Amino acid sequence: MTDHIRIFDTTLRDGEQSPGCSMNLEEKLKVAAQLEALGVDIIEAGFAIASEGDFEAVSAVARQCETAIVASLARAAAGDIDRAWAAVKHARRPRIHTFIATSPLHMRAKLNMTPEQVLEAIARSVGHARSLCEDVEWSAEDATRSDPDYLCRAVEAAIRAGATTINLPDTVGYGTPETYGAMFRDVISRVPDADKAIFSTHCHNDLGLAVANTLAAIMAGARQCEATVNGIGERAGNAAIEEIAMAIRVRHDVLPVRTGIVTTEITRASRLVSGITGMAVQANKAIVGANAFAHESGIHQDGMLKDSSTYEIMTPESVGMGATNLVLGKHSGRAAFRQKLSEMGYDLSDNEFGDAFKRFKDLADAKKQVFDEDIVALVDDEVLRGHDRIQVSEVEVYCGSNGPQRAILTLHIDGEEVTAATRGNGPVDALFHAIRKLVPHDDAVLQLYQVHAVTAGTDAQAEVSVVLAEAGRTVRGTGAHTDTLVASARAYVNALNKLMVKRGKSPLSAAG
Ligand code: KIV
Ligand code: ZN
Repeated sequence: MTDHIRIFDTTLRDGEQSPGCSMNLEEKLKVAAQLEALGVDIIEAGFAIASEGDFEAVSAVARQCETAIVASLARAAAGDIDRAWAAVKHARRPRIHTFIATSPLHMRAKLNMTPEQVLEAIARSVGHARSLCEDVEWSAEDATRSDPDYLCRAVEAAIRAGATTINLPDTVGYGTPETYGAMFRDVISRVPDADKAIFSTHCHNDLGLAVANTLAAIMAGARQCEATVNGIGERAGNAAIEEIAMAIRVRHDVLPVRTGIVTTEITRASRLVSGITGMAVQANKAIVGANAFAHESGIHQDGMLKDSSTYEIMTPESVGMGATNLVLGKHSGRAAFRQKLSEMGYDLSDNEFGDAFKRFKDLADAKKQVFDEDIVALVDDEVLRGHDRIQVSEVEVYCGSNGPQRAILTLHIDGEEVTAATRGNGPVDALFHAIRKLVPHDDAVLQLYQVHAVTAGTDAQAEVSVVLAEAGRTVRGTGAHTDTLVASARAYVNALNKLMVKRGKSPLSAAG
């Protein structure tokens, strides 16, 4: 059996399904380019039938990718499969990924189908996909709660119909390393022709076991893992690519396999995805958290100075995190800023660098020292918002104990400048009223407004998060600025831009 583990990235599909994590077309293309640099083998670019926007995004990623296989998800219906094929057929290496549930609960309560009907649907859908595309993946949704004998029959039907990859997902994050590994051993040993397909893992993190379960399945014979950058995904998320890749690299003694992941691209991928989705990485997250390589206690610091391997099982450099802690200030020039960005894992185009440098200079004028955290907030806020259709142009606020508080706000909407003056119960309320006046979105509800200081000190940048909900969709926007109110307007407008994408590209009307 080969020791190569294929990494199937589903950041753009399962990852995008996490609450508030929608991405527009340009953002998906950017993430796809970084995923190729990261060395993933397969990119699941979306669910082509889900919306016109998803279809466009899958097609665009399919056209752009040079090395990775590009997959689209499809249910077990001819219409879904045709749509998936129409989107991925432009890829150098296309794949159709079709699925149906195999657990008694899902078949009865969700599909309203008998087990025999599901077996027929598997043969029909996989056969149809295979008539269009050489590379077909079939997934047994809720495999971990399926009857083992029935699961073997379903896998056998899929392989007989032409599936080249068989995925056994832990859809609800119910498995444990022992049970998940045993399921793979059982199916691989019992299904005739199991060696004609590659077996794949797909783990959700509801019990915090997604990576452990993935590694157990690899030890049981799986040779493809489905995972996302930063572990984003439905509910508690999916298995995190960076954790799987580094576990395999660091513990090769007990995990004698390899992946094609270029580990020095991990930090860059993590920052890009958190910046675009607005889904911050928790400070103590393994591999990519801000504290993953920080040593606070005196004993640890002393040990690190003597020999870094006393408390470090891998180096920050091995995951693409810069070694220096150079603090920048207003005298720092373009070269120092460029070097800093590169050490932090950012790879900006010339235009993006120009925008970021201008913003850095403004920030360095406003605050004495610019720390790494400031730069993360600045790049995420400035550079990744470049394609937003609605942009904050000017913010003016009148506040204090003698109300009424007022805001005058100017937005650029598809290149057109519009201004509104409004009152509110406090400056944030006044500002958000102005946004609602300029871009009516009466059905959307503000679910969260959160401010956090990026660094210490009264001159710190404020990072604001806003969550909007509309008709079952939630979107998260973020904004950063030394002025909390400017950051608030940017965050709200960022969320509105995402809502627009989620609505399937229906334009928001600009009033006034
Ligand atoms: O979790 C799951 O079962 C899935 C399948 C559609 C592969 O995401
Ligand atoms: Zn999933």
